[in-house]
Amino acid sequence: MASRRKFVAGNWKMHGSLADASALATAVSQGVSGLDNIDVVVCPVNVHISAVASVTQSTSVKLGAQNAHPAESGAFTGETSMAMLGELGCQYAIVGHSERRQLFGETDKAVAEKVEAALQQGITPILCIGETLDEREAGHLEKVIHAQLGEVLARVGIDALSKVVVAYEPVWAIGTGKTASPQQAQEVHAMIRARLACDNADIAASVQILYGGSVKPDNAADLFSQADIDGGLIGGAALDADSFTAICQAASAL
Ligand code: PGA
Repeated sequence: MASRRKFVAGNWKMHGSLADASALATAVSQGVSGLDNIDVVVCPVNVHISAVASVTQSTSVKLGAQNAHPAESGAFTGETSMAMLGELGCQYAIVGHSERRQLFGETDKAVAEKVEAALQQGITPILCIGETLDEREAGHLEKVIHAQLGEVLARVGIDALSKVVVAYEPVWAIGTGKTASPQQAQEVHAMIRARLACDNADIAASVQILYGGSVKPDNAADLFSQADIDGGLIGGAALDADSFTAICQAASAL
């Protein structure tokens, strides 16, 4: 089996002041220093990125954005391009988070365009996919996952997936305190890898697939020790440096 590095990303969403973001970045950088066998990424709001970059640039913590517009520039009031985020030091961008899909109407097609735009700028997209509770209960889990992945594969091709991190985030587990059980999550991670393997087995074996949805220090090790789970995309627990550090330590210890 391919050996994949564990990867932990914190999605700070629209929380905190500028001072809070700098303080959190400082505490996280100190907390995870020395955990050299994993990738650690923090994703502040766009207007906090520069301040966080000045804290993280001399550390092992990498920076990501939470969203971006697919165009390089243009008349898109209020939007920010991948290129602009790259200039600020972002090496990653979350793309297609379920909040973007549900609250801002992002379609699978729009998400695929953003993946392509990120790759064109040398930014690694953290591609979020996942089903709602209704979709799961109606037996549409595989169909939804395949559609979300399929749109991206059709746009950028399987080879590009070697430069993508996938995050499986069941919508019903995000911010709800309801975590998918390690077995439930593993089942979908294996399904994702199997879908990618239909196009290229080597790439499928090397892609980092994160789990997201109410990951906490006390469930991280169980989730991350599953065969196809390579780490986590952390929301609520990423806002507390001690919790986020503990999750990173769990990933590092595996
Ligand atoms: P949560 O969020 O950890 O608060 O459930 C995860 C996410 O939205 O990426």
